[in-house]
Amino acid sequence: STSFTVAIDGPAAAGKGTLSRQIASHYGFHHLDTGLTYRAVAKALLDAGQPLDNEAIAEATALAIDLAGLDRSVLSQHQIGEAASKIAVMPKVRRALVEAQRKFAAKTPGTVLDGRDIGTVVCPEAPVKLYVTASPEVRARRRYDEIISGGGSADFNDVFADVKRRDERDMGRADSPLKPADDAHLLDTSEMSIEAAFQAARAFIDAAL
Ligand code: C5P
Repeated sequence: STSFTVAIDGPAAAGKGTLSRQIASHYGFHHLDTGLTYRAVAKALLDAGQPLDNEAIAEATALAIDLAGLDRSVLSQHQIGEAASKIAVMPKVRRALVEAQRKFAAKTPGTVLDGRDIGTVVCPEAPVKLYVTASPEVRARRRYDEIISGGGSADFNDVFADVKRRDERDMGRADSPLKPADDAHLLDTSEMSIEAAFQAARAFIDAAL
């Protein structure tokens, strides 16, 4: 039997995570947040006191990552996301993680993978590709509101600067830069509710199933 893959890409805080979980739950598909695989490598290196710029060490760490053990609550910290975007520029790290992600994508009856390069590199044959985006201001506002409603404190301008720095690193790298696949459907969630984005995604998926 074959697997049906929904590929979802986009910048940080665009709403990919929520949308991916809703789609996976609605269709009974397996979901992989591929950002967690990069975060897990970064955390393992930080915990072991290893440098973030040694490709051989980072590759060995990437080859040892167990997809079944990824825990969002442990990996969600801001510093881990920053470190993840640094190790994500290394081709050998990407090759190791992409291989594990492709194995996951083959699960039946279907899968949802979200990240930066799913439609372009990991699953170029996916029958449905979505590129979920929102303006940097809107994404920074959502991140900021999340921090404040979680009882934390932050400065909006710092959050905004972080969002823009992460975009530059993800869109500017040589290996697998963030960009929409030629055949991706664009979903700009700047002025769209989660529900409206989900309904739009469902229409694209139902048309391809
Ligand atoms: O999406 P998330 O913030 O968890 O991703 C952390 C970092 O991992 C991203 O900023 C990006 O540099 C990297 N990443 C990637 N390719 C993916 C998923 C994440 O390069 N498919």
